[in-house]
Amino acid sequence: MSVVDPRITAAKRNLEKFSLVIPVFSPKGGVGKTFITALMAYSLTLDNEFTISLLDADFTNPSLHIVLGLDESNLKIEEEMGIKPIRVAPEIELMTLAAFVKDLTVPLRGNDIVNVVRELLAITRWSGKIMLIDSPPGFSDTHLEFLRLLIEVKEPKVLLVSTPTTLALKATERITKTLLSENIKILGLIGNMCLSNDDEGSIVQKAQQLTIPYLGCIPYISNAEKFYGTSMLELVKKIGTPLISITKIIKEAIE
Ligand SMILES: Nc1ncnc2c1ncn2[C@@H]1O[C@H](COP(=O)(O)OP(=O)(O)O)[C@@H](O)[C@H]1O
Ligand SMILES: [Mg+2]
Repeated sequence: MSVVDPRITAAKRNLEKFSLVIPVFSPKGGVGKTFITALMAYSLTLDNEFTISLLDADFTNPSLHIVLGLDESNLKIEEEMGIKPIRVAPEIELMTLAAFVKDLTVPLRGNDIVNVVRELLAITRWSGKIMLIDSPPGFSDTHLEFLRLLIEVKEPKVLLVSTPTTLALKATERITKTLLSENIKILGLIGNMCLSNDDEGSIVQKAQQLTIPYLGCIPYISNAEKFYGTSMLELVKKIGTPLISITKIIKEAIE
């Protein structure tokens, strides 16, 4: 007997309100998914045109709030016909499991992960136009549940992040082939921690080989942690061109 989960209907209704939903993926850890998600949020809100909703989907090791300058003690959840996302900046809101579990690691498997995805999407009262989903490394339960829900209501447009290393590029190649074989749209590939023209060249070459759009390369930033928090805004301005063009491409993808 199949049981209808009412959270799926609520989750889909909430997702439908977004003009664009972008899962940020790389099967490899440490390539900068979280850092780039935070940079994009600040970059997309530079013109104060709309709100960006961030969802930290790295449930066992949430870290987006840390890059955004919040610690567990100031992640306060307010309930009002559901739960309100945490206001990070005037136009940036965040939902993270860290607000509920503080600094504990919650061991989750299979069905537990599916439940967290459905619950967070069903009960959060978002107000943004674009949702960025910061994902864990790998390509398993979390990614699959988000994609499953999204495909039915709001075509997801995946942003891939890779460093110029052989292993990160291999991970990019693998996930790209899987996504394309499932007809999931890829917005493009962002290179991160690029130190030279050769580094950028290898990202460009990989995008060409995989026939996906190359969006730009974010340089390696020494003392990146110094920019965590509201200084991300300063970093966005300092990085300039590559971020400006990535932001433009994302805005063009709004339906
Ligand atoms: N462009 C960059 N230059 C320097 N350090 C970076 C850059 N991007 C990310 N980092 C740092 O690299 C580490 C891994 O980044 P993170 O965003 O956590 O990766 P992921 O989410 O893919 O696991 C963090 O310490 C982050 O501050
Ligand atoms: Mg991360």
